[in-house]
Amino acid sequence: MNINKIIVVGSCNTDMTIMTNRLPIPGETVLGGSFKMFSGGKGANQAVAAARLGGKVTLIAKLGSDLFGKQLIAQYENENIDIQYTFLDEELPTGVALITVDQKGENCIAVAAGANEALFPEDIDKAMNAFDDAKLLLLQLEIPIKTVDYVAKMAYKKGIKVILNPAPAASLSHELLKSLYAIIPNRVEAEILSGIKITDRKSTQIASNIIAEKGVDKVIITLGDRGAFVKDGPNYYEIPAFNVQPIDTTAAGDTFCGAFCVALSEKHSIREAVEIANKAASITVSREGAQSSIPYRDEVIPAIKKTTY
Ligand code: RIB
Repeated sequence: MNINKIIVVGSCNTDMTIMTNRLPIPGETVLGGSFKMFSGGKGANQAVAAARLGGKVTLIAKLGSDLFGKQLIAQYENENIDIQYTFLDEELPTGVALITVDQKGENCIAVAAGANEALFPEDIDKAMNAFDDAKLLLLQLEIPIKTVDYVAKMAYKKGIKVILNPAPAASLSHELLKSLYAIIPNRVEAEILSGIKITDRKSTQIASNIIAEKGVDKVIITLGDRGAFVKDGPNYYEIPAFNVQPIDTTAAGDTFCGAFCVALSEKHSIREAVEIANKAASITVSREGAQSSIPYRDEVIPAIKKTTY
């Protein structure tokens, strides 16, 4: 197996999740079922997904110097993630996400970013050694955008492939988009980035074209139970999702991104990487929680081999 190094720069949260029959509407109280705490945060979820799928992962992040922060860092170490540059902030608390999940597995998430908000370009400078032998950099948008811009530009100049999961959606500079190898928005994020309502294949293609015109060649739009739409240069195709009974969709997109990076680092084509990512995400959807639901390599690759190769 050819393992290349993947750096994830992003957020770490403790997720507090309540399962309910349906999501509350504004002003409404819904009586929920069980309450559980999970390790989450888009950055950490993607790092854990990449590590469980077989990647050699370094996580650059910031947590609070509190119980949650220390517990999360210990877990990353258990996942064989390099935590040399996973920093503790002395003042701000660890990020927390309040999550409601309904019977269909759909969720609603509110995040108090805490220490994630204090991951600055100076922290990237402290971690500069990590980039010497890295092949891929995976980013999301739960940390300051100036840090995302800074690290993407620096990594691009070093010849590292930069992949952005633009979640939660935000406006992105032309410079950032130009430094990307690929962008992986979900449907809602692709609508915000393109200004196009995605309803069918044609509108998905138009949205992918508009995003690509901003400077990124590979646009992969994740579409939940409809799978993923890929624009790779002049080529367009869809890879269907695996059919599963959804329990909790939290971290499905994160699993997709982490698995996609591992597959790319092992020299799979974009098409194969998306298929592997789809399989990994489908397993995540069938289980509760964020990092608790992310599959291991031996759950994903044998299933893929049976169906594809
Ligand atoms: O993508 C899912 C994640 O979003 C959750 O784990 C939560 O922490 C928020 O960051």
